[in-house]
Amino acid sequence: MKKTLFFVAAALSSVVAIAEKVELSTQHTSLVLELNANRHPEFRYYGSKLSATDLKSLDWNGDDNWSHLNVYPAYGANVMQNEACLAIRHADGNLSTDMLVQSFDVTSVSDKAPNGADRHGKLLTVALADNVYPVSAKLFYLAYDDVDIIECWTEITNQDTKKKNNVITLTQFYNPILPIHRDNVWVSHCHGSWASEGQLTEEPLNNGQLIIKNKDGMRNATSDRNDVLFSLDGRPQEGHGACIGASLCYSGNYRVSIDTDESDYHYYMSGINPDNSEYHLKKGETFTTPHTALTFTENGTNGVSQSFHRWARKYQLRHADQERMILLNSWEGVYFDINQQGMDQMMHDIASMGGELFVMDDGWFGDKYPRAVDNSSLGDWVVDTRKLPDGIEGLLRDAKKNGVKFGIWIEPEMANTVSELYEAHPDWIVKAPQRDPVLGRGGTQVVLDLSNPAVQDFVFSITDNLLSKYPEIAYIKWDANAPLMNHGSQYLPMADQSHLFIAIHEGIIKVCQRIREKYPDVVIQACASGGGRVNYGLLPYFDEFWVSDNTDGLQRIRMQWGTSYFYPAIAMASHISAVPNHAVFRTTSLKYRCDVAMSGRLGMEIQPKNMTDAEKALCRQAISDYKKVRPVIQFGDLYRLHSPYAGDDLASLMYVSEDKKQAVFFWYKLETYKNQHLPIVKMQGLDPDRVYTVCELNRIDNKPLDCEGKQYTGAYLMQHGLEMPYRHIVEYNQQNDWSSRVIWLK
Ligand code: GLA
Repeated sequence: MKKTLFFVAAALSSVVAIAEKVELSTQHTSLVLELNANRHPEFRYYGSKLSATDLKSLDWNGDDNWSHLNVYPAYGANVMQNEACLAIRHADGNLSTDMLVQSFDVTSVSDKAPNGADRHGKLLTVALADNVYPVSAKLFYLAYDDVDIIECWTEITNQDTKKKNNVITLTQFYNPILPIHRDNVWVSHCHGSWASEGQLTEEPLNNGQLIIKNKDGMRNATSDRNDVLFSLDGRPQEGHGACIGASLCYSGNYRVSIDTDESDYHYYMSGINPDNSEYHLKKGETFTTPHTALTFTENGTNGVSQSFHRWARKYQLRHADQERMILLNSWEGVYFDINQQGMDQMMHDIASMGGELFVMDDGWFGDKYPRAVDNSSLGDWVVDTRKLPDGIEGLLRDAKKNGVKFGIWIEPEMANTVSELYEAHPDWIVKAPQRDPVLGRGGTQVVLDLSNPAVQDFVFSITDNLLSKYPEIAYIKWDANAPLMNHGSQYLPMADQSHLFIAIHEGIIKVCQRIREKYPDVVIQACASGGGRVNYGLLPYFDEFWVSDNTDGLQRIRMQWGTSYFYPAIAMASHISAVPNHAVFRTTSLKYRCDVAMSGRLGMEIQPKNMTDAEKALCRQAISDYKKVRPVIQFGDLYRLHSPYAGDDLASLMYVSEDKKQAVFFWYKLETYKNQHLPIVKMQGLDPDRVYTVCELNRIDNKPLDCEGKQYTGAYLMQHGLEMPYRHIVEYNQQNDWSSRVIWLK
């Protein structure tokens, strides 16, 4: 075939496959595929934006294994090849599929992103079809005009027209493969568990397969997260080096596979976890996979984070252009011990410290079965008038009186077997046919079957009832505290029981969409026993997430660091809590806890009644200082400066406003020894020619820092940095081993 170069700009209309190379680009990146009729779609390039000259000369100069470059291998055409994106059991039992290019086109798109924002970009659609069986697939690659993100996903359609025996079974349904070059490639990803989410793991890719997966069923980010960051030039570096970031925008079971085969290339693949999830596609039906979002940068791991943060703030999170309210959440302060007077007191206290919102957590509901502890009442979303005689009206009245907004906790996808809901609708819960349900939290928690439209209506009605009756409710904390411990839908037909994992997540999304259509303004937090729902599948319907039930200042530095690889500060709910910490029983200083919480979306999670006046004064100061720099932290660019994982007792990061006029620098000592020597942290991201004035925030020292009020150029701060004293200059009886600084550069 004659070599015809295909330029995106020249072909924004439908094109039949006459050309070979197809480039799709963002401002700074290019993705190139080679697409020829009746051939497999092949990978050519993903990296920095190509010049016309380089694009023209771009060819595959690698040695062998062309088949390995197929971005959408289907199982069976060449069973020797590596992992397949698609595997189908055809209606007649044949396990082989061979997907060949039929046509492709690149179009300009202007549509709504999942968070409702207008977005513009170019969409490459590659139409594929099996050469024997009536099944087709479309590969989509969407390149954004103003952020360096390319999303890819697929649609698989059963094109059968026969009257009978026309159901095909999808047994694997990953998004297209991204091949990554040989050499010393490292991968960074987050690993964790409850109260220890988001711990950063970094490792070189070796031969064999690295599988990162989730099978929780309901929450997929408590343990291993699906976001992966590849450092292509060896050991990860924050500021430089070629890197690829990849995140699967999905809230359910996933599998990420990085396969390093005998060619020593690395093949990244992500998608819905196929385990126990065979999907039956009837004639005419289409199965759509969740999107994988990709970025490429030459600016190291931090470059990947900045791209994802920009994309998140524009196209993923709700209201990401609005400053977040500073709140007090009642959970660690009173747990289930909710009552009218107590809530009023907490509202008064947070207002007196300068906070803007009070959130009443678990324990406020249940009529026949009051929610005294965690073993009853989920599903019975009526106010417990024994605890709250004036109901939500009374709480809203008190919030108004105290000058704060009011928010409320719900856990809508769940029930307890001890609840009026379960008594009325035992058929609404997920459980295996013929078996008693395995029970979760409190020995009674069960998951509602959101594959069932009646259950979707019920779950929608929980938010709808609250918000339609009480439109002043400004914030919802949406929790999910159980995995799917049972496999079985009482709604889905027996033949389609394997659809459950997928159908539940479709159900959740449908409910979220309905809520957002009707209530676009309310702020909603995604909580799932802490950070179980830190994923871009659900976040487009939410404003933020609870990072972890572990609020210990020291461990939060590590968790928030890992989480920041893909998620921006504006989304990270980070609260000042009491000591000894309720999760790890560590006693950190209040200053330290404030300084850690201030690096994210600041809030409090404490009983203010138990705080001394001095402690309240310090929090008042932290809140007031946070308000000065809130836009820099919530909308600025993150620079991770010194990793808590480096093992040298120090962590430091900073945020720089987009116009580089202001920055906020955070410095945390992680350990204390006598005669300890810590590295001086050089700043990043500043304008070298601009002069910045130093102003310490949340200061507790009797004497200002030597650099206080002094001016430095951005160049100096980036080349030399500011040396921080290792301890605070406070009265002898106030001394402790914690030390941290927040510096505002303006
Ligand atoms: C989960 C959440 C907590 C709190 C409790 C309430 O554990 O992560 O923040 O809301 O549930 O039961």
